[in-house]
Amino acid sequence: MEKIIDENKQGDALILEQKENNSKKLFIESYGCAMNFSDSEIVASILDKQGYNTTNKLEDADLVLVNTCSIRDKAEQTVRKRLEKYNAVKRINPKMKVGVLGCMAERLKSKFLDEEKIVDLVVGPDAYKDLPNLLAEVEDGHDAINVVLSKDETYGDISPVRLNTNGVTALVSITRGCDNMCTFCVVPFTRGRERSRDPQSIIEEINDLWSKGYKEITLLGQNVDSFLWYGGGLKKDFVKASEMQKATAVDFSKLLQICAEAQPKMRIRFSTSNPQDMSLDVIKMMAKFDNICNHIHLPVQSGSNRILKEMNRLHTREEYFTLIDNIRKIIPNCAISQDMIAGFPTETEEDHQDTLSLLEYVKYNFGYMFTYSERPGTLAERKLEDDIPEATKKRRLSEIIALQLEHSEFRTRQFLGQTIEILVEKESKKSKDQWSGRSQHTIVAVFPKENYNIGDFVNVKVTDCTKATLIGEAVGLSTKNN
Ligand code: SAH
Ligand code: F3S
Repeated sequence: MEKIIDENKQGDALILEQKENNSKKLFIESYGCAMNFSDSEIVASILDKQGYNTTNKLEDADLVLVNTCSIRDKAEQTVRKRLEKYNAVKRINPKMKVGVLGCMAERLKSKFLDEEKIVDLVVGPDAYKDLPNLLAEVEDGHDAINVVLSKDETYGDISPVRLNTNGVTALVSITRGCDNMCTFCVVPFTRGRERSRDPQSIIEEINDLWSKGYKEITLLGQNVDSFLWYGGGLKKDFVKASEMQKATAVDFSKLLQICAEAQPKMRIRFSTSNPQDMSLDVIKMMAKFDNICNHIHLPVQSGSNRILKEMNRLHTREEYFTLIDNIRKIIPNCAISQDMIAGFPTETEEDHQDTLSLLEYVKYNFGYMFTYSERPGTLAERKLEDDIPEATKKRRLSEIIALQLEHSEFRTRQFLGQTIEILVEKESKKSKDQWSGRSQHTIVAVFPKENYNIGDFVNVKVTDCTKATLIGEAVGLSTKNN
């Protein structure tokens, strides 16, 4: 199943506008979640001011930065392989410097400098503003490191440069860190405590994107539903806020409203929602505004109450079903997608059957499914033995994927004969005569180009489909273009 951004995909080198006065060359690539891709845009913006233009040729680079992911062991192995490749290039270009950013930098800290001789620079997700100082140290011939996590850094004051953009869709980060402490997850350790970005700076970024022709934004956070702005500070310190701060606080549903009203024609998406934090207010706000896309990515991880408890997911299977029922009641055509983990420690065949029956109940539009990967330092690693044999994990995963594929096809087929609005994003990979875009439900559709352009909202009549893609023909521009 294709992922929107696949952790194992070769992180494309990111390129932006070349400035004549910038004499140094930066090669920057990203792995992992959308937040990493968004962070790389912040890093490129900071380094632009330090005289760096981006290049997509590794061999030409003065500085190579890799923004890394620690979520599963495989993600880390992918980065280790890239370091080998950089090493080969450095033999030809010994002046090239190599820096590691993101979650692996935070997790491994100075160990990275010891383990990987090629690495000159290690920078954690909250320390990118320190890059100019760290690079000065590197240029003086020293290794440099900053992995300090912050209580208030949100990079709200940095205007990200849009890298490798289609000019139509953009990522806008709204929270950093996560306080949820799911027992399998390394994110709370690598990205620190949860904090929210000033809504004012979010709106300014959205307005700026609209003025530059962007038509769709995704509000990003590890756990967007727990967004809470009361003037700055950690989410967990809200209890200590003044009465005034509490009265004027902005939560996620309010933020959605402000964004939807600021740019009524901009499509608004968000990711990721945690079931325990998603409120009815958010669902109602989605129903109220046409421009908020009817799609919720709602990871559940397991269908077994016992495993959910072991995972420290703070809801039951029954509560999850109630949430799903409420979503379907308030937004009948809402697309819902999942993340699932197969083979968490102690998972029995019965637990696994509970996962399959949960899938059957919800019939998600699509999902991202993984085998459990033990992460050092997490609660699960400290308390539970990784006791499910790899072959069993893989077999359970393939059963989960097979069922999800059936459901994806079922959901896709429901669009046959309907006319839906598609935002044109790019040329179809399969044919240069066809456009490719997505509906608000995050379903890909392809149709003949005719006179339509990238960035147009086009009404498309669905005439056919594959398992995951709609095939259709344009019936006219949507009124959104007026
Ligand atoms: N809230 C986050 C979740 C980050 S991790 C977000 O914004 O997406 C993304 C997914 O990776 C999780 O939902 C989970 O399904 C999977 N995952 C996390 N840790 C894992 C582990 N140790 N092994 C396998 N999968 C894991
Ligand atoms: Fe990880 Fe759970 Fe947060 S999956 S990112 S600890 S919501």
